[in-house]
Amino acid sequence: MRHLIDTTDISVAEVDHIINTALDIIANREKYREVCKGKKLATLFYEPSTRTRLSFTSAMMELGGNVLGFSDAASSSVTKGETVADTVRVIGCFADIIAMRHSKEGAPLVASHYSEVPIINAGDGSHAHPTQTLTDLLTITRELGHLDNLTIGFCGDLLYGRTVHSLIKALSRYEGTKIVLIAPDSLRLPDYIKHDICDKNGIEYREVSTLEEVMGELDILYMTRVQQERFTDLDEYERVKDCFVLDAAKMRGAKERMAVLHPLPRVNEIAIDVDRTHVQPTSVRWRMASLYVWLSSIPFWSGPRSRLRLRRHLVSI
Ligand code: CP
Repeated sequence: MRHLIDTTDISVAEVDHIINTALDIIANREKYREVCKGKKLATLFYEPSTRTRLSFTSAMMELGGNVLGFSDAASSSVTKGETVADTVRVIGCFADIIAMRHSKEGAPLVASHYSEVPIINAGDGSHAHPTQTLTDLLTITRELGHLDNLTIGFCGDLLYGRTVHSLIKALSRYEGTKIVLIAPDSLRLPDYIKHDICDKNGIEYREVSTLEEVMGELDILYMTRVQQERFTDLDEYERVKDCFVLDAAKMRGAKERMAVLHPLPRVNEIAIDVDRTHVQPTSVRWRMASLYVWLSSIPFWSGPRSRLRLRRHLVSI
């Protein structure tokens, strides 16, 4: 049985297959109305979420399946001391697949060692958020038409930003990826990602101190929120929270087709003068594709072993 703990748990070919399935779902929605009939998804969310939990829920409903779960650890038996291992052993008797979010890095990996059903990591601490990454890859494919030869700027909280970590890992597998890192000194990308992911895959990256100096070279600008909930020193959070703000004046330096992505929630890092929003439900389509592929037992899943997109006038969640 396979689990999805981080983006590299699936191959580039498998990512392509999911993107193609998502594109087919967008084009032929009716075809997928009942493909998960009789199946159940459990959403175990030990940490707050709006988009991920509700898009998983919506995706399963669109596919004809059912959803159970909790959205707050305080309403679960974790308050009585139950371990993640025991919880997933039991939930595996109630559901066919589990999407788990947890504030502790590695909790979904631990769950995968004990679960009788597939575990999908819906975000673990500051480690990884693979389903957001797959949503981002679908958005990039729809906007720019390809995933190779892209120059991507990552801006904001690159230390705690799990969506950044997972997307860098995913893009490091495509030819010609170049990465530009824009962050306050205290929120720089962790060394293990620079060395174990970028250096090992021969990915060119550099760190710069302003958005303005790189705007003209970027195909994608990935903005992120400074994650207050990860700080132990709130004075430090106050000091860095508004270091980088994208506004309409900075956008004037960008390429005409540069796409701005943000996983949400947004706080101050993208001024509202940037977006004249038009919402597209990309994340639901991707999560439909992944649930369908997983639950329909397509052979390639049976081997051993997860917005806001702002592109000038366009927003995608
Ligand atoms: N992008 C994302 O993970 O949003 P939520 O925290 O609202 O799920």
